[in-house]
Amino acid sequence: MPGPDRVATFASSPPVLLHRPMGTPTRDETEEPVPVNATPAPRAPSPSGPAEPGDAAATVELPDGTVVCVRPITPADVAALVEFHEHLSADTIYRRYFAPHPHLAASEAEHFCVVDGYYRYALAATLDGEIIGVARMERLDPPTRAEVAFLLTDRFQHRGLGRVLAERLLDAARARGVQEVIADTLSDNYPMIHLLADLGYPVAYTRDQGIIRITCQLPRPPAQGAPV
Ligand SMILES: CC(C)(COP(=O)(O)OP(=O)(O)OC[C@H]1O[C@@H](n2cnc3c(N)ncnc32)[C@H](O)[C@@H]1OP(=O)(O)O)[C@@H](O)C(=O)NCCC(=O)NCCS
Repeated sequence: MPGPDRVATFASSPPVLLHRPMGTPTRDETEEPVPVNATPAPRAPSPSGPAEPGDAAATVELPDGTVVCVRPITPADVAALVEFHEHLSADTIYRRYFAPHPHLAASEAEHFCVVDGYYRYALAATLDGEIIGVARMERLDPPTRAEVAFLLTDRFQHRGLGRVLAERLLDAARARGVQEVIADTLSDNYPMIHLLADLGYPVAYTRDQGIIRITCQLPRPPAQGAPV
């Protein structure tokens, strides 16, 4: 992995969506999809379409034997997400939002939980019904690019849950036509940097002041009907 003095800067890149000041509107999900020149074009949302990877709930055993549930987030998770945030340490919050943010407003939680599954997609990891981690993606322009972010409650960090969520989120992104994911992280956030570096996808790094942007290239999913 490149060291901090071997990365380029991304000072001229578009603004980051997931670390923007809370409440700033994102892309209007009722808009028409942005045209994409690349082929195949990402598939538009299809509520009645076939299930994609990440659509179903799964039980996953962590390396320490803890069995957790990983499933798409839903609007019913708003209160649980507010509660999840209340138990995060200030350091964890800072690593995710790059600013103090001690409480998550219900409106913010609603923004995070009411997702269309196409422009915005998110997974929740739960234990006994309590949210212990979330992973999300938000498409950029062009929509073959997406930003991703991860947030685990402190007691579930460094236990392999980040990897479980990252693998599933990037699988889901790839199945939805995303070809490149980016994650912005503090330059000393080694767990996050290693998390994406160790998934097996080609990664590149750029740096702007104290932030490292990690870019992962995702291979296109096999064409439908192609031999597996
Ligand atoms: C970042 C985060 C998602 C990582 O998930 P995690 O489950 O805690 O990840 P792990 O601790 O298992 O570490 C991931 C990798 O980093 C490595 N790692 C952990 N701590 C490290 C350190 N201090 N130095 C170097 N590598 C480290 C681990 O060995 C692991 O590598 P491996 O997969 O090759 O074993 C999680 O810690 C978190 O939610 N942090 C707070 C919020 C945040 O930072 N979000 C990222 C901004 S989007």
